[in-house]
Amino acid sequence: MTKRPRNVVVLGSTGSIGTQTLDVVERLQAAGVPLRIVGLAAGSNVELLERQIERVEPDVVSVASEAHAERLTARFPSLRVLSGDGGPTNLAAEDDVDVVVNALVGAVGLMPTLAGVSRGRIVALANKESLVVGGGLVRDALKTGGGRLIPIDSEHSAVLQCLEAGRRKDVRRLLLTASGGPFRDTDPSVLGHVTPQDALRHPTWAMGARITIDSATMVNKAFEVIEAHYLFGVSYDEVDVVLHPASIVHSLVEYRDGSILAQLATHDMRIPIQYALTYPDRLATDLPRLDFTSPLAFEFRPLDPARYPAFATMMSAARVGGSAPAALNAADEALVRRFLRGEIPFLGIARGLAVILERWHAEMGSDGDDASDLGELLAADRWARRMAQDLALV
Ligand SMILES: NC(=O)c1ccc[n+]([C@@H]2O[C@H](COP(=O)([O-])OP(=O)(O)OC[C@H]3O[C@@H](n4cnc5c(N)ncnc54)[C@H](OP(=O)(O)O)[C@@H]3O)[C@@H](O)[C@H]2O)c1
Repeated sequence: MTKRPRNVVVLGSTGSIGTQTLDVVERLQAAGVPLRIVGLAAGSNVELLERQIERVEPDVVSVASEAHAERLTARFPSLRVLSGDGGPTNLAAEDDVDVVVNALVGAVGLMPTLAGVSRGRIVALANKESLVVGGGLVRDALKTGGGRLIPIDSEHSAVLQCLEAGRRKDVRRLLLTASGGPFRDTDPSVLGHVTPQDALRHPTWAMGARITIDSATMVNKAFEVIEAHYLFGVSYDEVDVVLHPASIVHSLVEYRDGSILAQLATHDMRIPIQYALTYPDRLATDLPRLDFTSPLAFEFRPLDPARYPAFATMMSAARVGGSAPAALNAADEALVRRFLRGEIPFLGIARGLAVILERWHAEMGSDGDDASDLGELLAADRWARRMAQDLALV
């Protein structure tokens, strides 16, 4: 009997990671790797989704609005089309899916991750918010459902690879690298006046808008610490962040004898995406490689907490636990959107997060373990989102 190809669904196919995932899958298929994309989920970019449907020929797609769903059904009569908030989750739960690539942005990614791992699937995870918002729930679902999370984030892909080279009991700490974002060398006195265009100019990576702004505030790096905590079962004290402007060393693992292992590559997300799709195999690529015939910058600097106040706020929320990380993620989503619309200044994001964490302590605060109640997490998300939308921040 011939083995059927591995069936993949790509959630967030129209985004930065989603489009690169389609590129990687096509390259792997051309190399004879038996993969088939059976489902695509997008938000509102229906024009790009239509082009992807023609290219990939999936069995089922999902879009956010009913109007877009009707347009797709009219154009592709034999295609199954889902719509609404539950679309990506239903795709992740479809029969015969082997791998769910979760490249959605924001808290909306949590339910599809839970649907995938609780059905025993491999979830190739770019959506770090799944673990920031509901890390405890995902951990429980992994235990009962038997699924597996493979990171797509370059830092966590690097850590995974460095961990495979040693023994877990010998690990002293994980070191996540951070480019420092577009303002790592900017005079802090002008940060009050930087524009969305300035903040969207990431020095090394081309990514979606929210993660690019989160890289400028370093909220993204705090999210990655939380992600590492859940993915690798380490405490927050065992994860450190170090600035590495060149983004060549994607992260490091320090072992107890003082040896440090690092993973290096060009900053091209297609490398960790491919590794997540073929793990534990490591297949050939024709992607750009590091060139050691010219000088390479291996500079590392400590993170300056004064420059990135939002990092400390987000890490306090992580350490407090409960519904605090879910609340602050929702607040950050709303504050970043307001900054991009020109409604609040760049520093308003960090100020808003600090105020909302204080109010969370006053109004919602139950210190403690990971929240294991989805209802509590969703309520905290709504509460914080509303507050972030209304907060006066000048
Ligand atoms: N970009 C990177 O290099 C990178 C690296 C590491 C980790 N990540 C993580 O990967 C995730 C995706 O990042 P990205 O940069 O690819 O973001 P992005 O370019 O903004 O793409 C987000 C995707 O999610 C879809 N989407 C958004 N809201 C949706 C909803 N309510 N329902 C259905 N689909 C929805 C968007 O659809 P439409 O565009 O059609 O509306 C788009 O396809 C984030 O968690 C990010 O932190 C990204």
